[in-house]
Amino acid sequence: MGRSARAARRVGRNKLALTLGIETSCDETSVALVEDGRRVLSNVIHSQVDLHKDFGGVVPELAARDHLERLPGLLDLAFEKAGASPADVGLIAVTRGPGLAGCLLVGVGVAEGLSASWSRPRRARAGRTLKLVGVNHLWGHIYAALLTRPDLEPPLLGLVVSGAHSDLVRMPEHGRFEVIGRTRDDAAGEAFDKAARMLGLGYPGGPALDRLARTGDPRRQPLPKPSLPGLEFSFSGLKTALLYRLRDLGDAVTPQDKADLAAAFERSVVESLMEKLDEALSGTSVANVVVAGGVAANTLLRRRAAEVVAGRARLTMPTLELCTDNAAMIASAGFFADSPPHHVGRSAAPQARPGGESHSSIQVDPSLGWD
Ligand code: KG4
Ligand code: ZN
Repeated sequence: MGRSARAARRVGRNKLALTLGIETSCDETSVALVEDGRRVLSNVIHSQVDLHKDFGGVVPELAARDHLERLPGLLDLAFEKAGASPADVGLIAVTRGPGLAGCLLVGVGVAEGLSASWSRPRRARAGRTLKLVGVNHLWGHIYAALLTRPDLEPPLLGLVVSGAHSDLVRMPEHGRFEVIGRTRDDAAGEAFDKAARMLGLGYPGGPALDRLARTGDPRRQPLPKPSLPGLEFSFSGLKTALLYRLRDLGDAVTPQDKADLAAAFERSVVESLMEKLDEALSGTSVANVVVAGGVAANTLLRRRAAEVVAGRARLTMPTLELCTDNAAMIASAGFFADSPPHHVGRSAAPQARPGGESHSSIQVDPSLGWD
């Protein structure tokens, strides 16, 4: 952005409406600055893929230490990219769960430290209030859709598909979620990661399986499509079916077989997700659907979700960068958790929810649900 564009934006900006987001729940360290909960000024993400790839998965202790080492540099970078300073921040939003305990503690500890230091009267601007809010990571995935489409408002129907969750939720209003479907065993992302390992694709598995599937034909090595009654998912049987198929093929397995199996596995997972999304959509009259979370970056899922929702509701899928873990979505979710929507406008500073107050310490919860 040129100097004049930045200067013009600074004039119009309500500086205290900036939310600083911090995300460290798993293997991405991310810091973001978001304006009015809907406009990303910066969203810097450091992926720990290189750190964990030799181990074939995330090593929690290494992940936590790396978050701590990376956060100071990422904070500087996020402010530099946004053309902002800590004095512009009115709210700090940090992921408090679900995620890896040690990783969450690093993000929360840093957020608390920043909040305490920036709130000191001698540093604070006159009349400044700096608030700190702990954010549910799953809410963040839904709020990523608001960053992609700023006019999006609840009520909406959401499908959040990530490394640990495959949840269908109703969101009647900001900050309220009702789970209407979930997985009985593996999450979709977990299933992709395990299938990728079986196919020798290593970590991270989902994106690699997506790439390989593009070169395969799902009809040549078909796999069963899991189907449970109601709005429940199950992917562990499909995983076993792939294991047995690979055992049967043994040493005779060719690269084309693997590509075909990747395509078949992907199709079964995606069609199972789409069947339940279709069912949930039929049972409700909702104008907006959101499909989000890391697995929403999947090529086939993006295409099929557009087909399934077409003509019945407006579908929003976050951009690829906002599907996988990032701090901008945490900043947005934190902003709306802290601000009732009728107070949210371009010129409004964040207001406390009725009964909500600024927190000085955040409770980490590694197994947090949607509450
Ligand atoms: O939301 P996310 O970044 O982290 C969690 O909250 O878990 O999701 C990560 C999951 C991983 O399982 C990863 O393999 C999967 O999302 N994933 C994908 C793709 N990109 C990421 N799965 C399938 N296709 C992709 N393109
Ligand atoms: Zn996530």
